[in-house]
Amino acid sequence: MNLPDGLYDSVRKLALDRHQTVTSLMEQSLRRIVNEQTVSEAARAASASAALPDAQIPAKLLVTGGAGFIGSNFAHWLVANTDSTVTVLDKLTYAGNRESLAGLPEDRVRLVVGDICDADLVDSLVKDTDAVVHFAAESHNDNSLNDPSPFIQTNLVGTYTLLQAVRAHDKRFHHISTDEVYGDLELDDPERFHEYTPYNPSSPYSSSKAGSDLLVRAWVRSFGVRATISNCSNNYGPYQHIEKFIPRQITNILSGLRPKLYGSGENVRDWIHVDDHNSAVWTILTRGRMGETYLIGADGERNNKQVLEDILRLLGQPADAYDLVRDRPGHDLRYAIDSTKLRSELGWLPKYRSFSEGLAATIEWYKNNESWWRGAKEATEAMYAKQGQ
Ligand SMILES: NC(=O)c1ccc[n+]([C@@H]2O[C@H](COP(=O)([O-])OP(=O)(O)OC[C@H]3O[C@@H](n4cnc5c(N)ncnc54)[C@H](O)[C@@H]3O)[C@@H](O)[C@H]2O)c1
Repeated sequence: MNLPDGLYDSVRKLALDRHQTVTSLMEQSLRRIVNEQTVSEAARAASASAALPDAQIPAKLLVTGGAGFIGSNFAHWLVANTDSTVTVLDKLTYAGNRESLAGLPEDRVRLVVGDICDADLVDSLVKDTDAVVHFAAESHNDNSLNDPSPFIQTNLVGTYTLLQAVRAHDKRFHHISTDEVYGDLELDDPERFHEYTPYNPSSPYSSSKAGSDLLVRAWVRSFGVRATISNCSNNYGPYQHIEKFIPRQITNILSGLRPKLYGSGENVRDWIHVDDHNSAVWTILTRGRMGETYLIGADGERNNKQVLEDILRLLGQPADAYDLVRDRPGHDLRYAIDSTKLRSELGWLPKYRSFSEGLAATIEWYKNNESWWRGAKEATEAMYAKQGQ
């Protein structure tokens, strides 16, 4: 049918206006539902905080990835703060280091070198434990861009293998995940990630972690596995591989090399000291509600340029003594965590109230433990140089 000139445009405009009104009404309703859920969650949590749930303390723990950065700090934290014994299962990839467990008492911590994808090994270790805390992962975004295959294998197949074992032996399971599953936020967005934020991962690393979270949720729902999940923001602290942003800059300066800043350094991360992450994991493991997800964060938003300037200041260097290097493809802009649920429901609080305090302690650690990182420095910088970074 041919409409007269002008009428077609009027009808089209009316239809578009209507569409926009309906879309905006739908958006408003959706926002209201999410807000109501969040508010009622917070209200329920606030009343629960008056009487915290009783702690269920596991005597024997299996910690996967316990020779890596966060897992090894968790083993140290457990020895210092609990009576539990720990079996670490770690493949000792380039990111694992048995030296990170050096000095821990042998009657409390033992290391089993093996793969979380090895179903027989996993089954035998899970059978003999009270709870599993699952840190093991391929965890470096840049590596996932160069070769995604180990990320799919360890993060997805490995998590599946562990879930089958805890299901078979009815063991408590806590899954460690990342805020990167939520994608990123605009720099000027007032929003932060919370437990209802939709998943929107952007790299092979974050998508494989997102997939592993969904496997855990499905095993809870379909098979009644007793599991919890935590999604944490960026960690810093001792025993972190020097390929990662903060230790790379610290060890560059300690080696007489200039630090490197990706792009313009505007990308914002929400930094948390690794001990605060681990105290939150223990809180969730011992008091968390089954099937729940908790976000862990310490209100530490800072952009990469600010972090680098802090490091330079603490090491007595001029604020501009660094080089700008090529940005990472698809580099997420901003992550920010709202950890209200964890704080109000389970009463958790971070120990480090200031980023500078935790950073100064971390710099001291790298100064005093050169033997731990020196061996990996040359190869790490050669790898970055090849990428123009
Ligand atoms: N580093 C962060 O800022 C951060 C933030 C939030 C969440 N997370 C999550 O925390 C967990 C630990 O991160 P990290 O920074 O300590 O990582 P990491 O790379 O330092 O350590 C990972 C450990 O897992 C081991 N591993 C890898 N594949 C394995 C396999 N197939 N079988 C057994 N062991 C294997 C490695 O040898 C290494 O010791 C990961 O699940 C990561 O997604 C990390």
